Amino acid sequence: MAVSINSVQLSLPQAIIAGFFLVLGFLYFAFQISELTRVLLSTFVTPGKPLTSFGPRGSWALITGASDGIGKQYALQLAKAGFNVVLVSRTESKLHNLSLEITSSNSDIRTEILAMDFSKNLGSDYERLAAIIKDKDIAVLINNVGQSHDLPVPYAEDPEEEVNNIIITNCIGTLRVTRLVLPGMSARKCGLILTMGSFGGLLPTPLLATYSGSKAFLQNWSTALAAEVEALGITVYFIQAYIVTSAMSKVKRSTYMFPSEKDFVKSTLAKIGNRCGSVGYAFSGTPWWSHALFAWCILTVGYPFGHFVVHQNLVMHKKIRARALKKAERMRLEAKKGT
Ligand SMILES: NC(=O)c1ccc[n+]([C@@H]2O[C@H](COP(=O)([O-])OP(=O)(O)OC[C@H]3O[C@@H](n4cnc5c(N)ncnc54)[C@H](OP(=O)(O)O)[C@@H]3O)[C@@H](O)[C@H]2O)c1
Repeated sequence: MAVSINSVQLSLPQAIIAGFFLVLGFLYFAFQISELTRVLLSTFVTPGKPLTSFGPRGSWALITGASDGIGKQYALQLAKAGFNVVLVSRTESKLHNLSLEITSSNSDIRTEILAMDFSKNLGSDYERLAAIIKDKDIAVLINNVGQSHDLPVPYAEDPEEEVNNIIITNCIGTLRVTRLVLPGMSARKCGLILTMGSFGGLLPTPLLATYSGSKAFLQNWSTALAAEVEALGITVYFIQAYIVTSAMSKVKRSTYMFPSEKDFVKSTLAKIGNRCGSVGYAFSGTPWWSHALFAWCILTVGYPFGHFVVHQNLVMHKKIRARALKKAERMRLEAKKGT
C-alpha cells in the first residue's frame, strides 16, 4: 500500500516513520514555545515569594560577605524591608560603617556585626557566629560570601593558597553557616536560604577552574538541600548570576547586561523562587532579565554544543588574562618610574 503526500509517493512504513518524526518535531517545538513562555512570564510578569512570607517585620536576616558589593546591597535592601541584620565579613571598619548607614536611615532596625575570615575556617569564628544568632529568629540567610581568582589563570599555575581559599570560603563557609541556621528555621517551619551562584557554575569556565567548580558544587548542594527541606516550609533558592558590577567582577560601569549591585539585588529580592531563564534547574533562578534571556539561550541552544561553548569560554578568558597581565605590567613600570 502506498501513501501520497504532496504528490510524493511513500510506502506505508515510510509514511509511519515520517508521521512519527513529524509528531516528534511538533511536540519538541510546542515544548520549546511553552518553555520560552514560562521564561518570559517568570522573568517579566510573575512576582516572586514576598519577603514577609519568610518572617515578620523585626525578624533577622544574616548576610555573609556583607560589607561590599552584592552583599552590601542585600544588607541595605533587607534592612529597608524591615529585617534586622547580622552582617559578616572580614573588615570590621566596613561592617561598622554599614551598620551606621543602616541604623541611621532605618531607626527601628537592629544590627549585629561579626568580622571573620571564612578562608581561615576557624571553629572559634563559627562559635562566635552561633552565639550571635542563638536567640535570634533568622528568617533569611544570604549565602553571599565568595572569592574568585585574582585573574584568569591556568589551574596548574594557580597558587595553592588561592585554590584553597576559594574552596574553603565558597563551599565550606556556605555549608557551615547554613548548618547553624537550619535548626531554627526547621523549628519555625519557615525561612529563606538564598545562595549566590554564578554562570561560572553553569558553564565550565577555563582559567577560572576552581571558582567554576566551587559554584557548580554549590548548585547541586543547594538544589539537593532545597528538595530536602521544602516540606519543612523552608525555601532554598540558588541564584545563577552573570556579571554584576563589583570589586570581584572588576566591572565598574553598569549596562543592561552588567547590572549594578543595587539593581541586581532589587530584582533578586522581587523574584524569589522564580526560575526565570534557568532551564532544567530546580530551585534556582536568574532574576536579572538579561541574565535570564542569556541563560535560556545557553541552556536551550548552547548545551548540545558543549565542546564549542567551553572552547569559546577558554578563548574569552585567555583574552581577559592577556589584558590583565598587560595592565599589571604597565602599572609595575609606572610604579618603578615613580620611585
Ligand atoms: N560580581 C559578579 O559579577 C558576580 C557574578 C556571579 C556571582 N557572584 C557572586 O556574588 C557574590 C558576591 O560577589 P561580589 O561581586 O559582591 O564580591 P565583592 O564585591 O568582592 O564582595 C565580596 C564580599 O565578601 C567579603 N569577603 C570576601 N572574602 C571574604 C572572606 N574570606 N571572609 C569573609 N568575608 C569575605 C568582602 O568583604 P571584606 O573584604 O571586608 O571581607 C565583601 O563584603 C559572590 O559569591 C560571587 O561569587 C558575583
